[in-house]
Parts: sequence; C-alpha cells; structure tokens
Amino acid sequence: MTEASGARFSSGVSATSISPTILRNRNEWPDFTDEVWGWYWDDRVNRWEPIYGKSTERREYDTGTGYSAPTIHPMKLEQRRRVEQRVDSGTVLELYAGRGNLSRNVYAKRGRKLVLIDTDKEALEQAHQKLRGSVKHETIAMDNVKWVNEEMEPRDLSNLRLVDFDAFGCPAEPAKAFFNKFPVNQTLYVTFTDGSGLHNRYIQDEEGKKWMRSTYGVDRIPPADREGIVSNLDRFIEVQGREHGFKVQKVSVAHGDANTIYAGYKLTPTGASKNVEDPRTKYKVKTVSKSVLKDYAGMNRPAAEELGFKPLPRKNEILVREDLTGKSREETISHEVREAEDMKKGDTYWQAHSKAIEREERKLE
Ligand SMILES: C[S@@+](CC[C@H](N)C(=O)[O-])C[C@H]1O[C@@H](n2cnc3c(N)ncnc32)[C@H](O)[C@@H]1O
Repeated sequence: MTEASGARFSSGVSATSISPTILRNRNEWPDFTDEVWGWYWDDRVNRWEPIYGKSTERREYDTGTGYSAPTIHPMKLEQRRRVEQRVDSGTVLELYAGRGNLSRNVYAKRGRKLVLIDTDKEALEQAHQKLRGSVKHETIAMDNVKWVNEEMEPRDLSNLRLVDFDAFGCPAEPAKAFFNKFPVNQTLYVTFTDGSGLHNRYIQDEEGKKWMRSTYGVDRIPPADREGIVSNLDRFIEVQGREHGFKVQKVSVAHGDANTIYAGYKLTPTGASKNVEDPRTKYKVKTVSKSVLKDYAGMNRPAAEELGFKPLPRKNEILVREDLTGKSREETISHEVREAEDMKKGDTYWQAHSKAIEREERKLE
C-alpha cells in the first residue's frame, strides 16, 4: 500500500504537501487512486487526508462497535464517520435510514437525537431494535419527500446538525424538498450516497440533459465515472446554496466497489435564506384563566370557529391556560399553532387535531 504522498492531486501536487491556498476552492480535491478510495478534509492540518480503500468481497465485517453490518460498505462507514466527527451533539436526520446500520455504527451517541425516515417499516423496526436503550430516536415509516413536505417541522429541528441522504440511486429529490423548507440558519452537515453513475452512462443526449436539469438543477451531463458523480453533487449542492442562502465546503468523499459515491458537505449560512419563517412567530399568545378555556388547554381561532367556542380568539392569537408552565405550556402553544396552520390549509378541526397529536406521540416514543 502506498503512502498518501503517492496520491496525486489533479494539479499534480502530492497529497502531503498540499495547502488550502493552492486549491482554487475548497471543493477541489485529490484524485482517487487504486489504494486511496476516499479523502477527507482535516481542519487541524488544513489538507486532504486519504481514506484507504477496502473492498466488500467479504460482505460481513467488523464495525468496531461489536455490530456486524452486512449491508454497509466500509468506505461509506469511513466517509460518514469523518463527517460525524465534526458534530458534537444535536439532532441527526436520516432520510434513508433503512435498518439503521449508519444510525447504530456512526450516528448513535449519547446526548444526540436521531430521526429516522424510511418507507420500509420492517427495516425501521430493526433499526429501532438496534438503537433502543442507547440513543434517543424516532422512526417514521413514510416516503421521505412526503415526510419533508407534509410533516417536517423546521422548528422541531432547531438543533439539527446533520442530514444523511443514503439513497440507493439519486438523492436529489428529498434534498431539494428539504432545502425548500428547512432554513439553514446555522452550520449544517449533509452526507449523500449517490448511485446514479450507471444511469449517467445512458443519458448522454438531450433527454438526459433535461433530466439532469429537472433533477439536479445542473445544465450538464456529468462524465459517467466516479469523478463525474462527485462534480455533479458539488454543483447540485452549490445550486441549493445559491437558492437558499448557504456556502458549501466539501469535507469528505469516497467511492464504493463500483461507481457509488459517498460525499459530505459543510453548509454555512450566508443570511440569505428565502425559506418561510417559523409559523410560531406569527402568533400572539394570551394567557387566560382555566374557567375561560373550560376543558381545553389551549385554543386557536380556526378551531374555535369550527367548535363554536366562545370567546373567539383574535386572528393569529393563541389562548393558553394560566396554570400551564414550562414544557407543557410550550407544547400546548406548538399544538395550537400546528392545528391552526393545518386548518388554514383546509383540514377540519379533527383532522388537524389528530395530526398534531400523532406528531406529539411520535416525539414521545
Ligand atoms: C442504502 S439503503 C439505506 C441504508 C441505511 N442507511 C443503513 O445504514 O442501514 C436505502 C434505503 O432507502 C429506502 N428508500 C427508498 N426510497 C425511499 C423513499 N422515497 N423514502 C424513504 N426511504 C426510501 C429503502 O427502503 C432503503 O432502506
């Protein structure tokens, strides 16, 4: 196995002597070699460091945590760990969580919260079994784009530090949906698995160009090789950054046995996010006595109108019972805001109320 110095940069500079000043931008990175299947940016020494390649001929391997993970590629594991190490605590959102191999072997750390989304309910049950007792987590069996569009509440994710898109194919749709809704107001890391390389080989025509544009927002069909997928992901995330107000820095990249690419980016807000503001900020909260609210903990105007409740709260006013304090008060306000927002979108009181309760119960699991 050669040392890192044997690996060449595109500019012809050896890996050990590279300094960030000679990189045109941070997203420029050294080539893959036969031995070096991945690179990560090390802030302590300001250079790219190699991740040596490991094949998955052996489908089972030791993850070092006492768990055997038959479906996780060792390069994916290494690449994800390099990103995870940059994050201290907070919430990690996995939009393709599957059986929770990454959750268990990379992201599960005491003090964290993991939110796991996957269409496969049984896989999520396995993930839950792997995680129970070790880390706070929530599993939601749902299409990830649907979840982002209909269920994700940015205010519930104020502590979000990392979003993982571990797709089988192309991760662009849930990523676009996510950035359309989630304001990047603080440093956020994202990790992608992109297996669209093979597909790229067959789309070298006008139709392919259209697909690239509508899927990744990129006006160019990338070369059908590993580097092509990396540059495509770079462009994709930069387009998201321009649209949604964040700067992008690639922090790690690796490949699997074929053309699958694993990439991680650090996103830093530029203060230009166009995302809608937290709906809670639109509402005024009025504390009222128990007798005013009868058996209710809180009340909002659309609900009061449908229930025939009096006194009718003003527009965008939430009434909350005076004896509620701390967490219960916060939860009641959030419940009322959600209910009011969903009713404004056309839900009946019972539909909006049940949705709010469902979300709250999931959070408590
Ligand atoms: C590469 S696997 C994820 C592996 C997982 N991260 C792990 O470490 O165990 C891809 C997962 O994406 C899920 N999936 C595919 N399409 C999806 C969608 N539209 N929404 C949510 N999950 C989806 C599949 O059920 C599968 O579990």
